[in-house]
Parts: sequence; C-alpha cells; structure tokens
Amino acid sequence: MSKVTVVGAGNVGATCANVLAFNEIASEVVMLDVKEGVSEGKAMDMMQTAQLLGFDTTLVGCTNDYAQTANSDVVVITSGIPRKPGMTREELIDVNAGIVKSVAQNILKHSPNAIIVVVSNPMDTMTYLAYKALGLPKNRIIGMGGALDSSRFKYFLSQALKCNANEVEGFVIGGHGDTTMIPLARLATYKGMPVAKLLSAEKLEEVVASTMVGGATLTKLLGTSAWYAPGAAAAHVVESIIRNQNKMVPCSVYLEGEYGQNDICIGVPVILGKNGIESIVDIELTDEEKDLFAKSAEAVRNTNYALTEVGAL
Ligand code: LAC
Repeated sequence: MSKVTVVGAGNVGATCANVLAFNEIASEVVMLDVKEGVSEGKAMDMMQTAQLLGFDTTLVGCTNDYAQTANSDVVVITSGIPRKPGMTREELIDVNAGIVKSVAQNILKHSPNAIIVVVSNPMDTMTYLAYKALGLPKNRIIGMGGALDSSRFKYFLSQALKCNANEVEGFVIGGHGDTTMIPLARLATYKGMPVAKLLSAEKLEEVVASTMVGGATLTKLLGTSAWYAPGAAAAHVVESIIRNQNKMVPCSVYLEGEYGQNDICIGVPVILGKNGIESIVDIELTDEEKDLFAKSAEAVRNTNYALTEVGAL
C-alpha cells in the first residue's frame, strides 16, 4: 500500500498522476487542485482508462480538501503558474512562492511523514523555500529538475547519435534554468562509449545548448510550458522512492558543503530510495565544471534572495 498526492492538477500534475497510475507506482493517487472540479474530473477520466490500460491504482480528485491527502508517503507539488513564451522560470517567483509555501504547510499538517517532491518553478528556489519553511530533514525535500533535464539531454544525444535513447547515459547538474544547467557531456556515454569520441565537439556543443533551452523551446512551440516529460520526470523520482530502487538521479537538494556549496538547493546526483535522498553522490568535477557549478549556484542564490523580497521567507 502506498499513497501519493499530486498537488496541482494542471498539465504537469495530471501527467504525473497518470504515469503513476498507469505504471501502478502507487496503490492510491490523490490529485488536489484549487479549481473546483478539475482534479475530480481528471481523476474520473483517468479511472475510466483503468480497464482499457489494465491498471489497479485508484485515483481520487479533490478541490482543496487536504484531509483527502492524509498520510501520503510522497507528495508532489506542481502548483503555481507556468511560464509563457519569452518568460524565464525565475520570473514566476512572486506568484509561485506564496502558493508553494502554503501548499507545503497544508500538506505537512495531514502527512507529517511525507517525502516532498517539488516541481513548481523556479524549481531550485521553490525547493529551498519548502526546505526552509517546513524545517524537515533534508532527505525529505527533493526538487525534480535534474531528472527532467537529464532526460532531455539523453533525447538530444540520441538524436545526434541516431540511436535508441535508452542506450544513452548522461546527466545534468546545476540549476534548472536556461543558463544555469550543466549537461555533463564529459560523462555521457552510448553503450559505455564516451559520446565525446562519437560526436564532434561542435555537435556536442549543439546538444548541450539544445538541452539547456529544452524547456524554453517547448514553451515557444506550445504557448505554455511542457508537461509530458516534466510529469514523467516527477513520476520517475517518485518511483525510485516508493519502490526503494536506489537509482541515481540528479535532483535539487539542500547542500551543506557538498560540491563546495552551502545553504542552497541545486541539482546534484543523489541516490533516491525509501528515505528520499539516501545519499548525495560526490562526482569529481574538472576545474571547468567546478567553475560552471559555482556560477550556477551564484545565479540560483540570487533568485533565492527574492524570497525575502516577496516576503516568503
Ligand atoms: C520545463 C519546465 C517545466 O523545463 O520547467 O519544461
């Protein structure tokens, strides 16, 4: 028996709930939204696919009724507004900080032991806010950005290599921002072969650049931010926790000296298991990568300062 709540039944939240149910990652999935009827309707719609797709997960939708989320093992927070074409994730902070803080506090009242997965943007800053506002141990607050950015990185690598994306390894650390994320091309491989040996430096640079603006490219195409990969990435994080898979996934987590940083949530590789973050993986970076990471942290920290300005911290 496992229960997962997804707060925010918009595109990303609903996709996440759908993936969780379809793959039977949890036995019960609760969707909660502020808009009357939306999560009830989406839950009913998804439940009507159970016989077609053959899953046994129960989906429940509710309008702002936190009692229904009680005793969740994992809670995914997707609440807030998404970006519009031309906007950065950072520009969402005024609106989303207040929403994420109150959602996180309400969740904790009903699920005191839950592990919280933060999806709302700007994701690193919202993860930091949840960590600071809730005062939970750091292993229970996880930002999902690196999981999404890494899947985009693998997608762009597979396109360049003209190969199956499932045979590509690669991950992205740093902030979940167009200029702050760091796709680690040096460590990316295709069937164990370094991609740096298979692609020209120019092509690899193109892949890195496409990955970094992966979200913005989709926002431009769709008129709002993406949802299939973001929803699936959040579900991937939840799965490793619920099924205690101990997968290594880059996530935004609170650092206390790791990677030379303190008092910040930013993307680094972590092991995800039943306790949330089981450990932070210390990967040896080159001087150039260290420099990029420090710059990324500085940018994330600057966004975090805005939390005080908007009165969220
Ligand atoms: C993206 C948003 C969800 O990267 O941050 O698509």
